[in-house]
Amino acid sequence: MIGRLNHVAIAVPDLAAASRSYAEVLGAQVSASQAMPEHGVTVVFVTLPNTKIELLHPLGPDSPLRGFLGKNPAGGIHHVCYEVADILAARDRLKGQGARVLGDGEPKIGAHGKPVLFLHPKDFCGTLIELEQA
Ligand code: CO
Repeated sequence: MIGRLNHVAIAVPDLAAASRSYAEVLGAQVSASQAMPEHGVTVVFVTLPNTKIELLHPLGPDSPLRGFLGKNPAGGIHHVCYEVADILAARDRLKGQGARVLGDGEPKIGAHGKPVLFLHPKDFCGTLIELEQA
């Protein structure tokens, strides 16, 4: 059911420093930062030949990243995003298999303007999974 790896998201305590590391030290192509208030994050997109890295920094007091950075003050991998062809069919199949879909179970529009859902990390090897409709 899952297709390509769309991106790996890394939570960072200092977005400018993380951008510089990827651009200058690793030599990657890095975007300007983009505020996404509806998701409580500011994002920098790193474009790699076969996938993307998203550098995520909390935006606003209720950002879901604050707890994560509290536990991982140096930053760390926050989630992986897999593409699916049909997000509602994927959700229904996952629910049928007992996997927990976060929130109200309805897809939201994600960082790339496409519908996304998140799956509970305890159901998938301790890793938060995002599904994005390709
Ligand atoms: Co993501």
